[in-house]
Amino acid sequence: MSRMNAITNNGSLATPDGSLRWLALFAEQTESTNPNTPPDFLHPFEIEHWQTLRVDKRRKEWSLGRRAAKELVTGMLHEKTGRLFNLRQIAVVPHADGWPVLALPEGAGVAAVTLSISHTHEVAFCGAMEGENRLLGVDIEAIEPRATGFADEYFTPLENQFLAVAPAEQHTTLINAIWSGKEAALKAIRRGLAEDTRLVSCLPHPLMGDREGWLPVRIVWDEERSTRPMPPLAGYWRREADLVMTLAFAPGAA
Ligand SMILES: CC(C)(COP(=O)(O)OP(=O)(O)OC[C@H]1O[C@@H](n2cnc3c(N)ncnc32)[C@H](O)[C@@H]1OP(=O)(O)O)[C@@H](O)C(=O)NCCC(=O)NCCS
Repeated sequence: MSRMNAITNNGSLATPDGSLRWLALFAEQTESTNPNTPPDFLHPFEIEHWQTLRVDKRRKEWSLGRRAAKELVTGMLHEKTGRLFNLRQIAVVPHADGWPVLALPEGAGVAAVTLSISHTHEVAFCGAMEGENRLLGVDIEAIEPRATGFADEYFTPLENQFLAVAPAEQHTTLINAIWSGKEAALKAIRRGLAEDTRLVSCLPHPLMGDREGWLPVRIVWDEERSTRPMPPLAGYWRREADLVMTLAFAPGAA
């Protein structure tokens, strides 16, 4: 069975501020296109950006991320309004600092949606919440061994202490879950790896054997490394086949 068939690839998570919807899309679920022609689901604004991408791999992952995000958003709009929009009517364009900005069609029935996108190894993962400028970050990583010294270099003492006592057989999975949690948290504040990865500690609940699905990740900012107040974030992670996915979002209006 391919990993695509082996995983749960979409759903929603209830948060105090509404539903967080997520979707994973594999390249093999989409039809292959001529690498020199923009895919037909792109909006004209997106085609403009696609044309600036020179490397074939980047074009592919960028397009897959767009497609995943647009499928997720058209699903949300359909549920809300009963209208089925074409993927070409929605544009997901990059802000100057990289995060995805969504342009909705007229009659969408929703004023704004905040999106976050990630990709790895021919799969794209995205999350969306209704509302503008929400704190939302998602990330996906393949579960693979990291280089010696990776955790010492990029993880906080708290994360390394957590790893030292975590179940040994989950070590590789948890290293990737911690890293993924960091990327999701740093995307939620729209900084990404422009920040020191040790600004935040992510402590994923270890796997519980037969209980799969979303598990909590504790997200703790390092006050000594931050120069400004950092927003509280809630986190979740899940393992699906050889992948970890994480979500980070504001835990609710204070
Ligand atoms: C965000 C970042 C951590 C993503 O790292 P990554 O592991 O390579 O990639 P992922 O697949 O998980 O995520 C990529 C997605 O993150 C999103 N993203 C990029 N910058 C972002 C930011 N500052 N905040 C939130 N999300 C961001 C984009 O949607 C991007 O996918 P897309 O370009 O196809 O739309 C990394 O790109 C980063 O740190 N960027 C900001 C800092 C930086 O280096 N800026 C220079 C930009 S020229």
